Amino acid sequence: MNRPVTLGEFIVEKQSEFPYATGELSQLLTSIRLAAKVVNREINKAGLADILGAIGSENVQGENQMKLDVFANDTFINAMRAMGEVCGVGSEELEDFISFNDEIHKEAKYVVLMDPLDGSSNIDVNVSVGTIFSIYRRVTPVGTPVQLEDFLQPGNKQVAAGYVVYGSSTMLVYTTGHGVNGFTLDPSIGVFCLSHPNMCIPEEGKIYSVNEGNYAHFHGGVKKYIKYCQEVDESTNRPYTSRYIGSLVSDFHRNLLKGGIYIYPTGTKAPKGKLRLLYECNPLAMIAEQAGGKASDGINRILDIQPEELHQRVPYFIGSPKMVETAEAFIRAEE
Ligand code: AHG
Ligand code: MN
Ligand code: MN
Ligand code: MN
Repeated sequence: MNRPVTLGEFIVEKQSEFPYATGELSQLLTSIRLAAKVVNREINKAGLADILGAIGSENVQGENQMKLDVFANDTFINAMRAMGEVCGVGSEELEDFISFNDEIHKEAKYVVLMDPLDGSSNIDVNVSVGTIFSIYRRVTPVGTPVQLEDFLQPGNKQVAAGYVVYGSSTMLVYTTGHGVNGFTLDPSIGVFCLSHPNMCIPEEGKIYSVNEGNYAHFHGGVKKYIKYCQEVDESTNRPYTSRYIGSLVSDFHRNLLKGGIYIYPTGTKAPKGKLRLLYECNPLAMIAEQAGGKASDGINRILDIQPEELHQRVPYFIGSPKMVETAEAFIRAEE
């Protein structure tokens, strides 16, 4: 067996391909990789905690899960605070962004936005969850405290983005704008190894992923597209297969590998959609596009949306390019 390339080696190798790179982004990815392993260890124990929790009340399981949201949040923030590359972090779990102002952060150029634990309601039933991260260069002067405008940049300004899926195996998938690569954690040695080089999403797929329980709340174009997915038509491989885990990272990861579309539209229950532009939609959109896919709010390219607030929500259509285009056509037709 050939010795696998480790994530650490891969980061160093890629860094040397960019002669002017200072290594700061590499160091930042190293901090994220370390935090991912710590969170992975804790998530693996959640099953044990649930077994113990069966003696107690439902409340304890609820609290446990809340603790894992906070644990993941704190772990990633501490890993980034410990090094000098990041000057500020925004997180789904924090009302406002954090500014790092210690001596070691004086030269820091990067801000990070993250969803520390995605799909956290799935933890207590042992279903895959994830972490999503998004990295930008700050726009305000280095050496001054970060400002809101450093975080409210459109997704097309991301310098890197990625996710970790804590699944039947744990994977870290990321891009720095030169394709997408996936690494699987070998738990016996605690090392991420390159398992999915140069990931590409199929142009078309057979999977559609949407919470159909909300069907009655959706608007006409989305309802018609869902019906289209269910219609019989051999020439286009329909009906498609419906798959919905309820963890965006896991649903997206499956569709990235197999081809498919993930939809979280607006509806009377979620007038602006549910998913957050900065923590969830932009990073996965960058990965989708780097893998040959598409991400849209139904009308506009996700990566071109100018964010107006940290916790902004948007409707979301992401996956195989032809499927996203077809969904967009249904939405346009109803406008
Ligand atoms: P989070 O756990 O980070 O709050 O994200 C939950 C999100 C996403 O992971 C998932 O796809 C979606 O919520 C599921 O929502 P519904 O239960 O409304 O389908
Ligand atoms: Mn989430
Ligand atoms: Mn979350
Ligand atoms: Mn949440």
